[in-house]
Amino acid sequence: MLLKERCSIIEFKDLGDERGKLVVVEGGQSIPFEIKRVFYIYGSDSTVVRGQHANKESEFVLINVAGKSKVKITDGKEEVVVNLDRPMIGVYIPKMVWKDMYDFSEDSVLLVLASTHYDRTEYLRDYEEYKKMLNISDESESRK
Ligand code: TYD
Repeated sequence: MLLKERCSIIEFKDLGDERGKLVVVEGGQSIPFEIKRVFYIYGSDSTVVRGQHANKESEFVLINVAGKSKVKITDGKEEVVVNLDRPMIGVYIPKMVWKDMYDFSEDSVLLVLASTHYDRTEYLRDYEEYKKMLNISDESESRK
């Protein structure tokens, strides 16, 4: 399956009416896992690159509930960039996929839903080590 298909864009129900907007996000339903952890990232400026890791165990869904950011996702071979620019869309990031979040707008609030509790030992923060784990040699990788 292509990386683009594995990292699906999820469109949440937008139940807006004349009083304002309401977006519904349900674990095990629109989110393809039970949510164990929620964190959010804000106050990162446009020059910052966050993430820069892959996770051995965790799956994530990223939603910019305010403002905008971008996430570059790679499996060491293919690369996909997703514009998180609306509060009713999210991107699903499976295990063992490398992610960089960047281009944060000043008002960006990036909500992250995770399938696990935090465990720093399941984070891969060295891209070379990550590729080694996937058996990807430098010749076959396309990440710059
Ligand atoms: P980090 O993984 O570097 O953030 P990002 O992926 O956005 O670049 O996390 C920053 C710090 O917060 C680091 O010291 C680990 C800690 N942290 C937790 O304690 N629990 C969590 O759930 C997360 C995501 C991070």
